[in-house]
Amino acid sequence: MIKLPRPHPQLKPKSAAILEELRHFESQNIVQTDADGRWPIVWQRAQGMKVWDADGAEYLDATAAFGVAAAGHANKSVVRAGRKQMGILLHAMGDVHPHAGKAALARRLSELTFGDPGLKGVPTGTGRGKTIFCNSGFEAVEAALKTACLATGKPDVIAFEGAYHGLGYGCLNATHRTFFRAPFESQLRGFAHFVPFPSTEDGAALSLEKITGLAKRHRVGALLFEPIQGRGGIRPPAKGFLSALRTLSTELGLLLVADEVYTGFGRTGDWFACQGEGIKPDIYCLGKALTGGFPMSACVGRAELMDHAWPLASGEAIHTSTFLGHPVGCAMALRQIGEIASRNLPKRARDLGNAAIAELRSVASNRPGVAAVRGRGLMIGVELQRRDTHGSSPIGMRVVKGLLNEGWIVLPEGEHAEVIAFTPPLIISKQQMKGFASSLARVLDRILSGLP
Ligand SMILES: Cc1ncc(COP(=O)(O)O)c(C=O)c1O
Repeated sequence: MIKLPRPHPQLKPKSAAILEELRHFESQNIVQTDADGRWPIVWQRAQGMKVWDADGAEYLDATAAFGVAAAGHANKSVVRAGRKQMGILLHAMGDVHPHAGKAALARRLSELTFGDPGLKGVPTGTGRGKTIFCNSGFEAVEAALKTACLATGKPDVIAFEGAYHGLGYGCLNATHRTFFRAPFESQLRGFAHFVPFPSTEDGAALSLEKITGLAKRHRVGALLFEPIQGRGGIRPPAKGFLSALRTLSTELGLLLVADEVYTGFGRTGDWFACQGEGIKPDIYCLGKALTGGFPMSACVGRAELMDHAWPLASGEAIHTSTFLGHPVGCAMALRQIGEIASRNLPKRARDLGNAAIAELRSVASNRPGVAAVRGRGLMIGVELQRRDTHGSSPIGMRVVKGLLNEGWIVLPEGEHAEVIAFTPPLIISKQQMKGFASSLARVLDRILSGLP
């Protein structure tokens, strides 16, 4: 047995020991650890809005742990459904011998995505979706990219500057940030063309023009977009842009692929952000909040499109994986969707989100350190000025750490970590939301006045 050096005696001895173990045995690229022991915290338990660390300190989670815990951490009925399923069937044979839960979930996803009629831009004859189950958000995007390639016979994709679609070799082509791409550029095939993600009407017109030009010059099969850019800095597009995108992609014969991995399942005030814009994409990529915590994702496309793209199975699926449509994931997803529906969490996200934006804008109004507050539902970004009052260091991470010190778990988004994301579980109370705004105000005042 390898003996580890004893961690330095600190305020949090249990957490320190675990971090020390990770430092020795996990790739050093994963977790960044501050020498003073204040970052990161080591999660021990989570319930609802609350998280406890290994040394018993309690926090409130304003991230929903990357947007996963939409119905609250360890939602009791979701956990119960997962436990029950584990006792009955822990694993099946995804593409060979299926199980009932997979069929039930595929049907439920069809109802939620393509089932409701009357939305703009849906070619007639739709109303049903077909699913490819995957394990993680990026795989759902890759399944969508494969679908588009098969359906159109065209390999290229148009994506947006600032886009984040995950880090697998397929979707990394469409993830924009150089930080993620540069180390592997030599292994990418570069089938994506990027256009600006517009926040103004003029910008929208320019992006549409560029898309038209690219579609004419290249063999483009799909247009891939996030309805609100998440990791790019909680950026909603210009008003009406997604609707124009729907119209244009139909005109140009491009498949419209919505990456709703982050925005899906109520986060933005509708089941899916596209629905809030009154449009239907041809394919949805779903993940994160789908199960509330089990690693599972889904690529859901219009039924006719999916049948056109994918050949009938003949004993060997051309796209599958060992854990495809995992029984525990399906059971949890069905229950999680049930929870989101029965508690009307999309509406709750919309109402509380409006209140939160107002509250955070009032924090911003008399503080020069805040550049903008934006978002929809409970997907809100507080964009900070990149520099502190002395014009030197970026302040995003300092605010995130200051909030952690106040008991709030938050994440920075944006290329320069300049946006504080507020994406809590959709069950957050109004009082907790107001508490977050007060903490943010306190932390900003401390940092902007030059205090450590
Ligand atoms: C919009 C979007 N797409 C895809 C992904 C990738 O998901 P995963 O990390 O589960 O692979 C993310 C992750 O943050 C995301 O925000």
